[in-house]
Amino acid sequence: MKAVGTASGKIILMGEHAVVYGQPAIALPFSAVEIRATVSAQGEALTVSCDFYDGLVHQMPKIWESLKHAIRFSLYRIGAPSDPAIHVQIDSTIPAERGMGSSAAVAVAVARALFAFYQKDLSYQELWDIVQSSEKIAHGNPSGVDAATTSGKQPIFFIKNQKMEPLDLCLDAYLVVGDSGKTGQTLEAVLDVAKLYQNKKEARDWIEALGDLTRKAKLYLSSGDIRELGQVMNQAHGLLQQLGVSDDKLDLLVETAHHQGALGAKLTGGGRGGCMIALVKNRAQANILAQALRDNGACQTWIQYLGE
Ligand code: MEV
Repeated sequence: MKAVGTASGKIILMGEHAVVYGQPAIALPFSAVEIRATVSAQGEALTVSCDFYDGLVHQMPKIWESLKHAIRFSLYRIGAPSDPAIHVQIDSTIPAERGMGSSAAVAVAVARALFAFYQKDLSYQELWDIVQSSEKIAHGNPSGVDAATTSGKQPIFFIKNQKMEPLDLCLDAYLVVGDSGKTGQTLEAVLDVAKLYQNKKEARDWIEALGDLTRKAKLYLSSGDIRELGQVMNQAHGLLQQLGVSDDKLDLLVETAHHQGALGAKLTGGGRGGCMIALVKNRAQANILAQALRDNGACQTWIQYLGE
């Protein structure tokens, strides 16, 4: 018997970091990258294999605690034995720790696969509890935007602790995603922003300004105004720089996007490494920009159409 669970990556279009403080974020599932968990009856104990580990779940190194927790907590919620003779195989095309939601996505995929293996229904609330508790280990104080986006199929307008609003995205434009190749430092970035938020009035203003930009972005998404959308993305990157969550490589890729005539560009996700996104008008521009990003140090690029 085998069971499979999947989850997609995610891209935050607007609102990262500010979303932790009750401001809105706009995020989209990014189906170009995906995690697949396969559970099978195998061996004599609970084992897991993925790119970075192959062995007993209870011996997993501390840095993978959030994955271990997702497996154990799912088993607990299912009412299964805590150390069953099963194997969890994880295959991923989501680059780890690059702001694409890999930690949330792996928890979503694992929970789905384990519930399917034990033939138990997995309610949205149950999935949410499992993923958020695993995200708390990975990120400290997660807003929930990663959990909501990687478990869904639609772009969302997300405010912490509120019902999320699905968004219809039908823009005749493209997003180019560039991976800086540097592992993101979401936990540190979130903690440093929290210190700034506590100690500096300006930082609280920047967070609020990010929220205003996200609300504007929502309007531009529905009116199809890609120029204005690009502008608010640029302004958001400036504010994220002020908050100290960008870095030289991300800034270089964002500048490259500007030189190539992108309508807007910004980092996406936790920052301090990870990925950036740029908005362009057509496929030809997207191809040229993707090449320019790779020439300037991006280790991987993707192109996502924002229409239907
Ligand atoms: C991480 O993908 C997004 C952050 O806003 C953290 C969070 O919302 O939990 C940086």
